Amino acid sequence: MYTETNRSLKEFNTFGVDAKANQLVTITSVDELKQALITPEIKNNPWLVLGGGSNILFTRDFDGAVILNRIKGVEKIREDENYVWIKAGSGEVWHELVMWCVERNYGGIENLSLIPGCVGAGPIQNIGAYGVEIKDVLEAVEVLMIDDGTLLTLSNAECLFGYRDSIFKNQLRGKCIIVSVVLKLSKKTEVNTTYGAIKQELEEAGIHNPGIRDVGEAVIRIRKSKLPDPSRLGNAGSFFKNPEVEKEFFDELKNEFEKIPGFEQASGKIKIPAGWLIEQCGLKGVRVGNTGTHKDQALVIVNYGNASGKEILDFADSVIEKVKNKFSINLEKEVNII
Ligand code: FAD
Ligand code: EPU
Repeated sequence: MYTETNRSLKEFNTFGVDAKANQLVTITSVDELKQALITPEIKNNPWLVLGGGSNILFTRDFDGAVILNRIKGVEKIREDENYVWIKAGSGEVWHELVMWCVERNYGGIENLSLIPGCVGAGPIQNIGAYGVEIKDVLEAVEVLMIDDGTLLTLSNAECLFGYRDSIFKNQLRGKCIIVSVVLKLSKKTEVNTTYGAIKQELEEAGIHNPGIRDVGEAVIRIRKSKLPDPSRLGNAGSFFKNPEVEKEFFDELKNEFEKIPGFEQASGKIKIPAGWLIEQCGLKGVRVGNTGTHKDQALVIVNYGNASGKEILDFADSVIEKVKNKFSINLEKEVNII
C-alpha cells in the first residue's frame, strides 16, 4: 500500500482533468485493500475506487481518499473440452487481458478489444462494443463487502446486467469493491461478426474465414479510425447512453425526422444512436472554450485544452438541453460524475 497526499489525479483520468485528492492510496492486493479500508483516512472520509479513470469526470477536487486499484493476476482456473475459465484481478488492464486471451485463442472478448480501463470496472457498466457485452462471457464477480470485509461471489444472473447497467450501479453502489472476475471463454473458433462495421472491415481486408485474432484486429482498426486516443485528446468514450424509447414514440419521431436511425431491442423498445441526435443539433465537432464534441463522433465529449471538469459538465448539460428541445428525448450520462 502506498499513500500520497494532496495528489493531482490528472494522469489517472482519461479526460486529463487536473483535480486533486486528499489522499491517493495505491493497493496491489486484496489484503492491502482490506488494510486500506480500516485506516482512519478511508474509514472516516469519503472514498472512491479508480481503475483506469476512463469512465469518470472529476468536476471538483475530491475531499477524501481515492483508492487506485492495481490488484493483478491472470490465471486459468478450469478447463473442459470446449471452454476455459479465466480469473483476472480487477486491477489488470482490460485490453491486456483481451490480448492475453487472443494470443491463446480463447474466444469471447475479442470484440471488446481496446476498451480502456481495468478489468474491475467491466461488470459495473457491463462494457460493450461491436455486438458483445461482458455479460455474454462473465461467469462470476468476486467482491469485497465494505460493511463486514467479507469476500462474496456473485453469479452472472446475480449481477442483474442490462445495457450499460448492473447491480453495481444500483443496489450495490458504494457497498462493495470488485476484486476479480471469472470469464468463460470458448476454445472453439466461434467469432461474432454480426456488427455491420466488423463485416465490412473484414471484407475490405479480404478475410473470409476470420479467426479470433482477425476479429480483434478488425475491431482495433475500426476503433482507431473513429475514437480519439485519450493520450492525445482527453475523453471518456461515449459521454451519454444511447436512449431507448417506446415504439409508438419512435414512430412519431420518424414522421418528423425521416432519417432517424433506430434498432429494435429484445424488450420491444427502440434504441436510437445518441451520436445521431447530437449531430442533428449541429453539435458534431463543435468547440466551446476548452471542450466540445469530437469531429468524428458527436457522442464523445473531449477536452480540447486544459478544460476543468465543471466546464465539461456544463457543456454536456447544454448538449442534453438541445437534444431535449429538438427531439423530446432526455440523454442520460454514461460517465460517472464526481
Ligand atoms: P474508472 O473510470 O476508473 O471507474 C469507473 C467507475 O467504476 C467509477 O465509478 C469507479 O469508482 C468504479 N470502479 C472502478 N473500479 C472498481 C472496482 N474494482 N470496484 C468497484 N467500483 C469500481 N465503454 C464501453 O462499455 N464500451 C466501449 O466501447 C468503450 N469505449 C471507450 C473508448 C474510449 C476512448 C474511452 C476513453 C472510454 C471507453 N469506454 C467504453 C468507457 C470505459 O473505458 C469503460 O467504462 C471502462 O470499463 C472503465 O474502466 P476504468 O477502469 O477506467 O473505470
Ligand atoms: N452517429 C451519427 N453521428 C455521430 C456518431 C454516430 O450519426 O457523430 C450514428 C451513425 O448512424 C452510426 C450510429 O450512430 O451508425 C452508431 O455509431 P457507432 O457505431 O459509433 O456507435 P455508438 O452507438 O455511437 C456505441 C457504444 C460505444 C461502442 C460502439 C460500438 C454506447 C453509449 N456507446 O456507440 O461504446 O464502442 O457502440 O459498439 O452504447 C462507450 O461506451 O464509451 C463506447 C465508446
